[in-house]
Amino acid sequence: MLSYRHGFHAGNFADVFKHAVLCLLGQALIKKDKPLFCLDTHAGAGRYDLNSAMAAKNREHAGGIGRLWNAEAPPAELSAYLDGVRRLNHGSRPRFYPGSPELLRQFLRERDRLVLCELHGSDASQLKQEFRGDRRVRIEQGDGYQTMKALLPPKERRGLVLCDPAYELKEERTRLVDSITAAWQRWPTGHYAIWYPILARPEVDWFHRQFVRSGIKKIFVAELRIFDEDSPKRLNGSGMLRINPPWQLDTQLESLGPWLWNVLSTDRGGAYRQSWLVPE
Ligand SMILES: C[S@@+](CC[C@H](N)C(=O)[O-])C[C@H]1O[C@@H](n2cnc3c(N)ncnc32)[C@H](O)[C@@H]1O
Repeated sequence: MLSYRHGFHAGNFADVFKHAVLCLLGQALIKKDKPLFCLDTHAGAGRYDLNSAMAAKNREHAGGIGRLWNAEAPPAELSAYLDGVRRLNHGSRPRFYPGSPELLRQFLRERDRLVLCELHGSDASQLKQEFRGDRRVRIEQGDGYQTMKALLPPKERRGLVLCDPAYELKEERTRLVDSITAAWQRWPTGHYAIWYPILARPEVDWFHRQFVRSGIKKIFVAELRIFDEDSPKRLNGSGMLRINPPWQLDTQLESLGPWLWNVLSTDRGGAYRQSWLVPE
């Protein structure tokens, strides 16, 4: 039985990093005037009320979007992300936080398509509500890996897959690597963004090794840790693994990553780092 609900974590430091990278990808992909297909395999609820009981429980958003909201002189690389959050808010504090579906929606043009897959019944219902009437968006209640298998390659031949599971199940990493490898074999030119948590380093190294062994080319990783890895029980940071990252994304992140670390790391632990896991 799965118990993860993203509402408890919405807008935390890991969400900020994931969504900032996602928005850079979105911006890069709409530079070409060709139809785009986006698949969010683990979509969550789409939008979160930061005043809800779930969000209020640990107030994780205070250490994430709460810190960014009033930060001085945010870099240009954050503009699309911050615009996405501002679009839902009018007050001096963010009340609503956009999930990946809502952030991806802002990049959709008339001929683009977005498929949102979510297993949890109430989050899937909320998605249906949020995106009602938007003909570019389709909601699938079900398994994200099965949906990826069924829908790739898309007819557009251009696009992005965001894979952002909760890592609740022991076999999640193996399933993810196998599913992404199979997807890449069918659609090697697609853009893939995979979020992963950083608790203990050996687990992350193992995950990276599985990708190196998969045969997939052009894999770039960016990691933002706000704590040192001295506690394997807490979320010390998170990573975004990108396959076929758009040109210049590494340069944009080179300046954005350290800026985010500076704003989000309260006790000056952790660090930002990026590298090619598998070059071209
Ligand atoms: C980390 S959250 C997603 C957050 C969302 N991508 C965002 O950035 O706003 C992971 C979501 O995956 C859902 N989930 C868990 N197993 C799934 C599966 N096999 N297929 C699709 N969704 C799943 C959970 O219910 C949860 O809402």
